[in-house]
Amino acid sequence: MKREFIKTEDGSMTIYLPEMDETYHSTHGAIQEAEHVFIKHGLNAVDSSEKLDVNVFEVGFGTGLNALLSMKHSRHLYLNYDTIEAFPVTKDEADKMRYCELVGDDFKVYYDKMIRCPWGKKESLKFGMTFFKIHEKLQNYSLTKGKYDVIYFDAFGPRAQSEMWEIAILQNMFDGLQEGGMLVTYCAKGQFKRDLKSIGFEVESLPGPPGKREMTRAWKPETEEED
Ligand SMILES: C[S@@+](CC[C@H](N)C(=O)[O-])C[C@H]1O[C@@H](n2cnc3c(N)ncnc32)[C@H](O)[C@@H]1O
Repeated sequence: MKREFIKTEDGSMTIYLPEMDETYHSTHGAIQEAEHVFIKHGLNAVDSSEKLDVNVFEVGFGTGLNALLSMKHSRHLYLNYDTIEAFPVTKDEADKMRYCELVGDDFKVYYDKMIRCPWGKKESLKFGMTFFKIHEKLQNYSLTKGKYDVIYFDAFGPRAQSEMWEIAILQNMFDGLQEGGMLVTYCAKGQFKRDLKSIGFEVESLPGPPGKREMTRAWKPETEEED
């Protein structure tokens, strides 16, 4: 599928797919959106006073922007980052994004490592961060049950890719979360939120990033212990 490279309103780049009429990030600002949805309301909402390590699962590794920002902003001592991608971008395409010029040149060496990292092999990216890329369609992959503190659900939107928003996919992510874990996404569609509730998530609507009214955070409830 043809990929075009466009600048978003905060100066950071994204990829546009003309055939799907879909972008990898918000055109109002790729970095702004990722920091707001996935870092502020996802990763950094995990209580760092109680946890030394945090397990993240990202749906749709894409350009690696969310992984790069997670590395930069994690408040946890250890970050274990697993991500799935069905249609990887190439190293040349990733270079066109020039994210480290905005995120920090110090991260370039690690960003390059993420992009080059072999699929299906867990790597230690730097002290305190393990990284695992899965080359597969999410529909064909079962998350490890009860493993994750946070899931970044960064699929293309329901209009462009409805199969990624089906109940079976949401159930897979629910099962992959620890009790008290959360799923975060830019999507705030009513049907999506109703589907999350029907599976057992506790659903929160939060203010969205610039250009979007709302986003969604959904928690897997803790089961109450019997006396
Ligand atoms: C909205 S973009 C994600 C952007 C990415 N998080 C980033 O920071 O660049 C959606 C991603 O999901 C990937 N994708 C599409 N279908 C998929 C599938 N069935 N399973 C896993 N990934 C898929 C796309 O190739 C694309 O990289």
